[in-house]
Amino acid sequence: MSIAVCPGSFDPITLGHVDVVRRARTMFDEVVVAVAHNSSKRSLLGPEERVRLAQDALAGTDGVRVVATDGLLVDLVRDLGARAVVKGLRSGADLDAELAMALMNRHLSGVETVFVLGDPGLAHIASSLVKDVARHGGPIDDMVTPAVAAAVRQALAPASAGGGEDGR
Ligand code: PNS
Repeated sequence: MSIAVCPGSFDPITLGHVDVVRRARTMFDEVVVAVAHNSSKRSLLGPEERVRLAQDALAGTDGVRVVATDGLLVDLVRDLGARAVVKGLRSGADLDAELAMALMNRHLSGVETVFVLGDPGLAHIASSLVKDVARHGGPIDDMVTPAVAAAVRQALAPASAGGGEDGR
């Protein structure tokens, strides 16, 4: 059985991510979505919530499961016996950012990264922009699932100030 790992911060998962995971699933028997830690980003949502929201967003997609990982991605890839890492690309800027990680992961373990082009109609969606739009009271409901929209608004609500940030 061919397994691919689709890693990301997923802070939060967006409809763009869902599209990429579904495209990856057409190439691999199983896609493991790995909610991981990006040390260059500060997360709004905690890891458990990011996993819960990813599971909810992908609940209807057969052959997909969501896991959390705290360590090196290549260790997860090895432990799962995965054949490849899959990442989505929206633009050349995405490729610039992804290239370094893909080359590092191949250097560390030999794993190949497969790049999947997302739906151009979703290319404007980025987790960081979704949070920024929501932070300023804008509409995010056509970019994320209802559960994600609610969780992001809740995390940004004044009463939650400080509670949702995990320092990442
Ligand atoms: O969604 P992101 O932030 O672009 O995803 C980046 C992520 C989380 C996949 C990357 O930071 C990662 O793989 N983190 C796990 C730790 C690791 O393996 N670091 C070395 C990456 S070359």
